[in-house]
Amino acid sequence: MNLLSIIIFLLPPERLNLVHILAFMNTHNKNEGRRDFLKKSTALAALTIASPALVKAGENDERIAALFEKISLKLEINGVAHNLSVEPRVTLLDLLREQLQLTGTKKGCDHGQCGCCTVHVDGKRINSCLSLAVMNEGKKVTTIEGLANGDKLHPMQEAFIKHDGFQCGYCTPGQIMSAVACIKEGHADSAEQVREYMSGNICRCGAYPNIIDAIMEVKKGGQPL
Ligand code: FES
Ligand code: FES
Repeated sequence: MNLLSIIIFLLPPERLNLVHILAFMNTHNKNEGRRDFLKKSTALAALTIASPALVKAGENDERIAALFEKISLKLEINGVAHNLSVEPRVTLLDLLREQLQLTGTKKGCDHGQCGCCTVHVDGKRINSCLSLAVMNEGKKVTTIEGLANGDKLHPMQEAFIKHDGFQCGYCTPGQIMSAVACIKEGHADSAEQVREYMSGNICRCGAYPNIIDAIMEVKKGGQPL
């Protein structure tokens, strides 16, 4: 077991951003000198092992950021090509919200547990809080802002409105992105199946019955999604 594996194994959940970084380093160090890579690994290991009581999270983040330079990144988002410069630690969710002001995609748990941040990458749904932006080089991202066709809402958006598939609306962008993917995946043959394949999207307002009704109506309508 190498040093990185041991660190990842020992890492508490609140240090998840470090897991992101280490995973990235593990897969993107092909063009980096061994000495440079080891230097960064050792520095990160020291930050990881240090007691939280001694190292404040904010200071930690700044020290980590100083170790890395920004990386160029090409992405197509909602049909628009973007040439970006991002820190390797930045998640796709934070890139969308903080750098591109696409705030329709919501941040709930930031730990892959609520589904608020669901977007499509190359047609597949993912939790954008669990994906480093740089891991999506050259891919096509669709967010809730890219679902409508101009002024015409997507059939799933129409159905959510018709069936009152929301109350506060915070989970709704993620629910809609997931719902579209659920049908495209072929996982909407029954209300029971929809419940199972939408189980990664949490609604604190409990709008589940209406959400299921909306999805089933779109599925029955058979419109191209
Ligand atoms: Fe991504 Fe909760 S914010 S799953
Ligand atoms: Fe409020 Fe789902 S509508 S959390």
